[in-house]
Amino acid sequence: MSFRIQPTPPARPNRCQLFGPGSRPAIFEKMAASAADVINLDLEDSVAPSDKDQARQNVIEAISAVDWGTKTLSVRINGLDTPFWYRDVIDLLEQASDRLDQIMIPKVGCAADLYAVDALVTAIERAKGRSNPIAFEVIIESAAGIAHVEEIAAATPRLQAMSLGAADFAASMGMQTTGIGGTQENYYMQHGESRHYSDPWHWAQAAIVAACRTHGVLPVDGPFGDFSDGEGFRAQARRSATLGMVGKWAIHPKQVALANEVFTPSEDAVTEAREILQAMEDAKARGEGATVYKGRLVDIASIKQAEVIVRQSEMIAG
Ligand code: COA
Ligand code: MG
Repeated sequence: MSFRIQPTPPARPNRCQLFGPGSRPAIFEKMAASAADVINLDLEDSVAPSDKDQARQNVIEAISAVDWGTKTLSVRINGLDTPFWYRDVIDLLEQASDRLDQIMIPKVGCAADLYAVDALVTAIERAKGRSNPIAFEVIIESAAGIAHVEEIAAATPRLQAMSLGAADFAASMGMQTTGIGGTQENYYMQHGESRHYSDPWHWAQAAIVAACRTHGVLPVDGPFGDFSDGEGFRAQARRSATLGMVGKWAIHPKQVALANEVFTPSEDAVTEAREILQAMEDAKARGEGATVYKGRLVDIASIKQAEVIVRQSEMIAG
């Protein structure tokens, strides 16, 4: 490894981020009562332009009026290409209570986008004497965002999480699909008579994970649009977890339990990880750096792999 130690990301659970439109205050209490680790009140694309002002006021009120428990509370602001975002930031930072943990900045295209928001947020925090600094999370959902993903991950110490936004990403890339995540029927390999579906989101996810892990940011998988397809959600989430992502969005309450299930290491996985750590302890006592566990090689790298699972499980447990 390089002499620079890989930074650890924020030690908080982020298995599921539940979204709801800021223009639909009737669901805020239901969101707060859900089992999601993170709540995202939306001011962006689930809110019509004519509802933006009202949604902002609903959200500011709900931040202090609703009991959000120990959840991470985040508001998705409008993109920097709109006339709405500066008002979102100013009103949230000036008027919302300190219970607001984080703002989500969509459609980020380069590090300077975050520099601009950071400058505005920092000035308001100083003016208002805010006690806990607002964290940022971003969505990578454009060609520019994925092209500049590493500089974005490194842009500001406020940044805690980065999500892949499949729908806007597909549109920006000119992909021939209207699906939001999941299997795309024209993306396959043909081998003789058999068809094997490939994953068009994979490379972008892997790029996001690498950028995030380099800079101590949590990598998150975004929305899965077809909320009637639980198995499709589960399959996508399992692929994301295998690639190193820590959680996934829910755009319907049905998806919360699925995300929690996939992104909580299973009892079997934790038991096996602990057994590997024990096998390596025993090997070390014998002066060996490598040994055999269940008929397969484990060595010093296996310790680090096993620790990822044990740490994740302990962090979630509390
Ligand atoms: N969070 C919490 N509860 C929600 C919810 C949400 N995001 N969406 C719906 N519910 C509630 C409903 O109020 C209903 O509650 P009830 O049983 O007490 O009546 C229940 O869950 C079932 O809802 P359902 O009728 O299946 O959905 P809907 O037609 O009311 O809403 C959506 C469907 C997709 C429009 C809605 O879930 C939604 O707005 N999702 C978030 C969209 C969003 O934020 N997008 C931006 C990120 S991509
Ligand atoms: Mg989007």
